[in-house]
Amino acid sequence: MARKPLISGNWKMNLNHFEAIQNVQKLHYLIHKEVFDDVDVSIHPPFTDIRSIQTLVESEELEFALGAQHCHSEDTGAFTGEVSPAFLAKLNTEYVICGHSERREIFGETDEIVNAKVLAILKHAMTPILCCGETLDEREAGGTEDKVLGQIAAGLAGVSNEQIASMVIAYEPIWAIGTGKTATSEDAQTVCAAIRTKIRDMADDVTADAVRIQYGGSVKAGNAAELMSQPDIDGALVGGASLKPDFVELVRNGAG
Ligand code: 13P
Repeated sequence: MARKPLISGNWKMNLNHFEAIQNVQKLHYLIHKEVFDDVDVSIHPPFTDIRSIQTLVESEELEFALGAQHCHSEDTGAFTGEVSPAFLAKLNTEYVICGHSERREIFGETDEIVNAKVLAILKHAMTPILCCGETLDEREAGGTEDKVLGQIAAGLAGVSNEQIASMVIAYEPIWAIGTGKTATSEDAQTVCAAIRTKIRDMADDVTADAVRIQYGGSVKAGNAAELMSQPDIDGALVGGASLKPDFVELVRNGAG
């Protein structure tokens, strides 16, 4: 089954709303319209930029999908500093990253918390990008699949097959994030294929064939095409390179 690839730019805590507007205008000017026939592109700016980017994308009818980097699982309440999925939905946010390794490692998000967020994002008709990935120690100890497939099973608890089919999974080996080290396309393919097999076991063939699986971790213009040509890799979750002019070529190369 043909799955349209998704390339997502996770800006992390970079670019204020003025810089964000300029960056999105520049990117859109440089990425030729036809490219969007072959690839979906989502932009995940910091929260303070989202309203500005929403206005720009909607008023100029840009092909970019609006994304967020995380959210809380509750709609409202006494959660100082947190961001409601209901409020993101109100801004026409389409994709929300959840369970990013930086959230898990720095901010203590457990599999249970990540699962609650997946359910909340789906409840508001947005698409979760559920992240998973192993540390270098786990990889060297041969524990990659145990770790990753465990995160997938926990993150998808209580999610219907139809909902899983609409989702995006991002395999991001932690040792490859921001390090310049990328998994080889064969290694990335092996883990992404294992994720799809896990979903086939948890759900069914239709669901497994529909879910999009991204690879993330030092994806650049130079390696995007090879990674995305693998049969079970349907896109890329891009950090550092999404902030650079390189992103234009990365999207073009990823679109094939
Ligand atoms: P880099 O592309 O900078 O390695 O970051 C990957 C990432 O964490 C995207 O979510």
